[in-house]
Amino acid sequence: MDTIVVRGGSRLRGEVAVEGAKNAALPILFAALLTDEPCVFHNVPQVVDVRTALRLLADLGAEVQQEGTTVWVRARHLRSVEAPYELVKTMRASFLVLGPLLARTGRARVSTPGGCAIGARPVDLHLKGLQKLGATVDVVHGYAEAEVQRLQGATIYLDVPSVGATEHLLMVACLAEGSTRIEQAAREPEVVDLARVLIGMGARISGAGEDVITVEGVSRLHGVEHTIVPDRIEAGTFLIGGAMTGGDVFVRDARADHLHALLLKLKEAGAEVLEDAAGIRIRGHTRLRSVDVKTMPYPGFPTDLQAQFMAAMTRAEGRAVITETIFENRFLHAVELNRLGADIKVQGNAAVVQGVEKLTGAPVMATDLRASVSLVLAGLVAEGETVVSRVYHLDRGYARLEEKLRALGAWVERRRE
Ligand code: UD1
Repeated sequence: MDTIVVRGGSRLRGEVAVEGAKNAALPILFAALLTDEPCVFHNVPQVVDVRTALRLLADLGAEVQQEGTTVWVRARHLRSVEAPYELVKTMRASFLVLGPLLARTGRARVSTPGGCAIGARPVDLHLKGLQKLGATVDVVHGYAEAEVQRLQGATIYLDVPSVGATEHLLMVACLAEGSTRIEQAAREPEVVDLARVLIGMGARISGAGEDVITVEGVSRLHGVEHTIVPDRIEAGTFLIGGAMTGGDVFVRDARADHLHALLLKLKEAGAEVLEDAAGIRIRGHTRLRSVDVKTMPYPGFPTDLQAQFMAAMTRAEGRAVITETIFENRFLHAVELNRLGADIKVQGNAAVVQGVEKLTGAPVMATDLRASVSLVLAGLVAEGETVVSRVYHLDRGYARLEEKLRALGAWVERRRE
């Protein structure tokens, strides 16, 4: 297992470009199952989760070709309509193949994902939605088994604006008979990017990016060519890194309209933010001030940037309260940050971060994707060496992170053990 070693003390300076969004790429790749025609996607990030998705598509019988960040998928004949536990447990988003397989063939069998480090993460809204659209769904031996004669449009109200459930039901509704309304839909930019792809394939969707999405079903979808939206979470990670190291970083392709909540918080903390059409520049002048954040569905502060922001607050001046409202157990990084000398007390769904003068390097362990990058960021401002283990979490969602940080002047090295 690899480790990442960080020596603290450098300010990040220079320019870094962000990849395409992992969380947009995954559902978009699975949308290719909805047609027998070829689909071409550009700006697909080269991360482990994408590799897992392509392997799953190939297992199902799709032809897959990849050249750099361009991926070509054609699901002309499907060999299987099953996704096994081994795959779904390594990547929850694999569950999203259930609906497209069902819409395409009338039946599908996909393992349910189970819980994960950050919370229970049920799929009840996905299953209830599919039932509303006319499918019979049973969970048997840990697998969701779905069947349908003809998908029928319906009105679906999501109890919480789940990103995955919105994407899943949106894909299926495109091929249902009649119209579908998804109420309290997720509004994340990744949902909008998926809708763009589906519209490119011939779907009739309106309202993506708003809390009610309507879909007029069509009888078939065709091929598409699409460029994946830039990754706002990767962009946010570099912006936080620039601010907390007192650096000066231009994050190319970062979109200010997708990062509104983070940019407001970074400004409130004392960083200088300069937005232009090509990206966002961040400058950290003094020690950051502590500011409170509360994670919320988009356009609120993203839960996927909570750990990184907490890392920044560990050395800020004052006391910050970070409240997590999306996942019930997403503070595992707090104890690891405390090993570096941070002063964080977790009380229920809030973490009270008392800023300290300095952090000191130590061995720490990554527990999930965003937690692992928060430890790398903390290592950048800790004295001495921080060794982050279990970095396979990090590789699921960040491409060439060490390389990018090194180009910004950080001392970061990957050790293969
Ligand atoms: C997606 C992102 C993930 C991000 C999350 C929230 C991908 C591949 N992953 O995950 O990085 O952290 O959005 O922005 O895009 N819920 C239910 N029942 C359901 C579905 C969800 O109760 O059927 C709950 C979850 O337990 C959680 C909340 O809804 O508390 C939000 O989850 P959801 O938006 O579905 O997250 P994902 O789509 O899994």
